[in-house]
Amino acid sequence: MALLPCLLLLVLLLFPSVSGQVRDFVSIDCGGTGNYTDPNTGLAWISDAGLTKYGKVAEVRTSRKTGPQYKFHRYFPADSKKYCYTLSTTERRRYLVRATFLYGNSDSGNPYPMFQLFMDSTYWSTVTIKDASSVFVEEMIIRATSSSLQVCLCCASTSYPFISTLELRPLNVSMYATNYEDDFYLKVAARVNFGALSDEPIRYPDDPYDRIWESDLYKRQNYLVGMAPGTRRICTKRNIKINTREFPPLKVMQTAVVGTRGILSYRLNLDGFPANARAYAYLAEIEDLGKNETRKFMMKQPYIPGYDNIFVNIAENAHGSYALYEPSYMNVSLDFVLSFLFSKTQDSTRGPLLNAIEISKYVQIIPKTDFQDAAVLHAFQSMSSQGEWTYEDGDPCIPARWEWINCSSSMPPRITQIFLSGKNLSGAIPADIKQIEQLTELWLDDNSLDGPIPDMSNLINLEVVHLENNELTGQLPSYFGKLPSLRELYVQNNYLSGDIPPALLNGKFIFNYDGNPGLRLMGQHERHLQLIVATVIGAFAAVLLLVGCLWLLWNHQKKPLQGESHKKIFSGNYLRILSKSSSPYSIVRGASLVIDDGLDLAYYISLTEIEEATCKFSKKIGEGSFGTVYYGKMKDGKEVAVKVSADSTSSGTQQFINEVALLSRIHHKNLVPLIGFCEEGCQRILVYEYMHNGTLRDHIHDSVKQKSLNWLSRLVIAEDAAKGLSYLHNGCNPSVIHRDVKTSNILLDINMRAKVSDFGLSRQADENLTHVSSVARGTVGYLDPEYYANQQLSDKSDVYSFGVVLLELISGRKPVSVEDYGADWNIVHWARSSIRKGDITSIIDPSLMGTFKIESVWRIAEIAVLSVELHGVSRPRMQEVEMVIQDAIKIERGSQSTHDSSSSSSSMPSLHVSFPSDPLEIVSDTQLVSVTEAR
Ligand SMILES: *[C@@H]1O[C@H](CO)[C@@H](O)[C@H](O)[C@H]1NC(C)=O
Ligand SMILES: *[C@@H]1O[C@H](CO)[C@@H](O)[C@H](O)[C@H]1NC(C)=O
Ligand SMILES: *[C@@H]1O[C@H](CO)[C@@H](O)[C@H](O)[C@H]1NC(C)=O
Ligand SMILES: *[C@@H]1O[C@H](CO)[C@@H](O)[C@H](O)[C@H]1NC(C)=O
Ligand SMILES: *[C@@H]1O[C@H](CO)[C@@H](O)[C@H](O)[C@H]1NC(C)=O
Ligand SMILES: *[C@@H]1O[C@H](CO)[C@@H](O)[C@H](O)[C@H]1NC(C)=O
Repeated sequence: MALLPCLLLLVLLLFPSVSGQVRDFVSIDCGGTGNYTDPNTGLAWISDAGLTKYGKVAEVRTSRKTGPQYKFHRYFPADSKKYCYTLSTTERRRYLVRATFLYGNSDSGNPYPMFQLFMDSTYWSTVTIKDASSVFVEEMIIRATSSSLQVCLCCASTSYPFISTLELRPLNVSMYATNYEDDFYLKVAARVNFGALSDEPIRYPDDPYDRIWESDLYKRQNYLVGMAPGTRRICTKRNIKINTREFPPLKVMQTAVVGTRGILSYRLNLDGFPANARAYAYLAEIEDLGKNETRKFMMKQPYIPGYDNIFVNIAENAHGSYALYEPSYMNVSLDFVLSFLFSKTQDSTRGPLLNAIEISKYVQIIPKTDFQDAAVLHAFQSMSSQGEWTYEDGDPCIPARWEWINCSSSMPPRITQIFLSGKNLSGAIPADIKQIEQLTELWLDDNSLDGPIPDMSNLINLEVVHLENNELTGQLPSYFGKLPSLRELYVQNNYLSGDIPPALLNGKFIFNYDGNPGLRLMGQHERHLQLIVATVIGAFAAVLLLVGCLWLLWNHQKKPLQGESHKKIFSGNYLRILSKSSSPYSIVRGASLVIDDGLDLAYYISLTEIEEATCKFSKKIGEGSFGTVYYGKMKDGKEVAVKVSADSTSSGTQQFINEVALLSRIHHKNLVPLIGFCEEGCQRILVYEYMHNGTLRDHIHDSVKQKSLNWLSRLVIAEDAAKGLSYLHNGCNPSVIHRDVKTSNILLDINMRAKVSDFGLSRQADENLTHVSSVARGTVGYLDPEYYANQQLSDKSDVYSFGVVLLELISGRKPVSVEDYGADWNIVHWARSSIRKGDITSIIDPSLMGTFKIESVWRIAEIAVLSVELHGVSRPRMQEVEMVIQDAIKIERGSQSTHDSSSSSSSMPSLHVSFPSDPLEIVSDTQLVSVTEAR
């Protein structure tokens, strides 16, 4: 028990000099069980238990050594609500706000979380967890706009939102002041300590402001790569004058890198870029130069107009050695991949030197909902103790609005509708309601409100007012009669009294005042008038209703006729597969049966008809895993691809039919549709829609057609294929694993849009197939090594194969080739090693040169490398791959407006066809996709 005070004393003794600063630190351990001081840092952490009513606590399992604040995290439901923490601030003071995330939960096999982070109404970041055991850090430098700020989590697109810590660090007077701080926050994108002594970051207590200075030895993908040869790390123990503007910590300034061959260069990815940024370099001469020696250098990259001739002489600029010189760009536009290069001037004896850099992105501040509107909403919340709506927090409108209101889309947003019917409100209606100038609908009925109806005469947008079934007293105000848009006014069953103002009885709006014993009409004749008007309106409405019904009936009768004629086209000697909820599938021959689930199913097509269509199988167009493929044209003119099974002996007739039954239920615009099938004697034939532009493989690897595929078209094709696959994985019930994703199974239609083919099919003989075991099936070069090794098939096997397809799209090379890759043998090893080194240009298809933005290639390269991870759990899901491709397309198109179908569809896979869930499952350990009855 006496241990704790001792520890505290120790802490105080250890950190005496900084106590002034640290007193203002707020360090919230989200999910933490109590308040404590971290003995390693001396920081006092408080539990968030009293700060939020929402969420649950999860224990974080990780092998990595982390501070006590990472033992737990708090997670929130994946719904449309937002979950916020409120931090108190001093208006106009600058702060560093930091949120950190350690997921830990790596072995569940579920996709890692991806959700959004907001600061008040300003979008801060999309938190994308890619590695369960690393701490993901987001930092924002702000000048507080009011006496508090809210950090909100919301909108999970995978898994759920969670948070590990939230930290608020006040900055000294004018640190990080910019010319733009009225309208922009600074989101920290990179803060690097060069020449670091270890790969651990430097932070509090070394930095009294507790910034995190990342070590340049810390390894991340494409982060600080491309270092120039001759780069040397130097350090000193001497003191350095750091009192310039941003006060970088001494420890950071005591180390540096030097380009001993005259050049210093690095390349790093900046998340969330291209964007406008504030960029700092921290420079201090920490080598003892001789009398006649100089260190002068210039920045050659990135090229910034107006700055290209300026050279740095640190000792001169800083007025001496061991002193800080802090050049910065107030506003510079930077790309996603930042390459920078310092080069010494001709007359300099020493090469360039760099101690640290810091780059922050300008983030436009989005105004909060009108504060007077918000104040009224808070007043309503305090008038009830019932229901979650009373403590919904964050901004009422942004990013997601509270459930019980509606907002305008203006900036700042205004409240337009309030829905509080039957919410157990008590007390008087807040008089400030007149501030909500855009209010159109007010629903306060069925509560216990008392007091008078407040003045709302200025709310000229009001259309609907419901105050019925309360305990309101006083007069009925006459201003309602002057509100120009009012359509409904309900005040019945209250205790209102006095005369009803004649202005309310003008018949322009629906007005119900029954059940107010104290209300009096001023004269009888108004009432008569009202009655007459009501009767006339009532009669008129009845006539309208009658006419409407008749019209509907008439139309309804016409429709089935049109439907009938449509169906006739496909009847005849076709057969339909019938699905009933009672039996999984049954096949009925001979008759054309009409089924009512509205889905197009595949038809039985007779062999004679197929022979006719294909001119007796005269035009061979390919060889697929199922068998030979022929071109054909049906009687109705439809062009088809006819696949004839190479295997004529197998006994699996029932399996074949089951498979067809399954396939015929899968419809998606990025999957090649099955039109019909034939099974006669030993022949098994599948008839697909014909794809005019052949396979993706031909377009990438066949030099004749290659010209037509620039980078953007490759991206669009990749997106299409990814959509098709993610539909197979997520949109089908049961879900389907393709098992043979490759460029020759991605077909291109007449508009060069891609559709995936050959999914879920039995494969008998194909020279491309490996017969590696009786179970694992796939094509050499695309085959998931994990599946190969232990025969556990999962959708991640398709992700692996698709990763190979992406690498092919980038490089234009085949997946396996001894000439291309030498000892590496396959594209995965070859491309991965280059990409990990940060070298992407050497793997890009030479025929693409000049047609791409490097950022967008990087996105694809990174997701491809993740997709071909050795272990399935480390690979992304197909939907995530799809989203990254969409990102890359946006980058590639740049500001160009995106209005075609591929980008207008939302980023989630299209799940609009929902199948009734049948008791089916795919048995994956047979060569066939078998459909069996579960249970
Ligand atoms: C932790 O500290 C906070 C802030 O000082 C305080 O409000 C809260 O009551 C403390 N909690 C416990 C369990 O002591
Ligand atoms: C804050 O800034 C002033 C100069 O503006 C400086 O003298 C002082 O040392 C700084 N305080 C801290 C704690 O760094
Ligand atoms: C930075 O410069 C760009 C173009 O010169 C300008 O549009 C922008 O408003 C400036 N400021 C910020 C904070 O982006
Ligand atoms: C610096 O000056 C010394 C003599 O003062 C001379 O020997 C030396 O070569 C000079 N070094 C350079 C790089 O000019
Ligand atoms: C309604 O509010 C009153 C207090 O105003 C409270 O006593 C009562 O329990 C609430 N009713 C419900 C159903 O929550
Ligand atoms: C909110 O308002 C918009 C138009 O301002 C309207 O389209 C939408 O239906 C409203 N939502 C609700 C729930 O009333």
